[in-house]
Amino acid sequence: MAQKILVLHGPNLNLLGTREPHVYGHTTLDALNATLEALAASLGADLVAFQSNHEGAIVDRIQAARLDGTDFVIINAGAYTHTSVAIRDALAGIAIPFVEVHISNVYKREVFRHHSYLSDLALGVVAGLGPLGYEAAVRFAAQHAPSA
Ligand code: DQA
Repeated sequence: MAQKILVLHGPNLNLLGTREPHVYGHTTLDALNATLEALAASLGADLVAFQSNHEGAIVDRIQAARLDGTDFVIINAGAYTHTSVAIRDALAGIAIPFVEVHISNVYKREVFRHHSYLSDLALGVVAGLGPLGYEAAVRFAAQHAPSA
């Protein structure tokens, strides 16, 4: 069975390409998702992407992953990374391995971005590599042993 990867994008990531391009670059979310889908397909994996600006919708999508056969989650929770116990609890609750991605190097930025509610649960964290960070995460996810 193909490895099934879910990519979750949190708040404001729908603005990629126009939002603070000096921080987040010029790649749009649609272009990023298309690149990730093609990369996953080339690696024999299935990839679906979901974006929401709403914390509860992200929690709902994480919970749904437990029932839809998702093997691996890649999440950029945006600002919720630094605030959301609910997203942390949802990820802990589904017990599906995940990688945390940030486009920017959060450790080079404001102190409030240095803490993540997700990192200690994540298999790995990628920050500061721009869209390439997601590609690294997809490669990692595709070779990660599928859950039984
Ligand atoms: C971000 C970093 C967060 O601090 C910020 O709130 C975002 C994007 C990143 O990808 O670099 O929305 O997760």
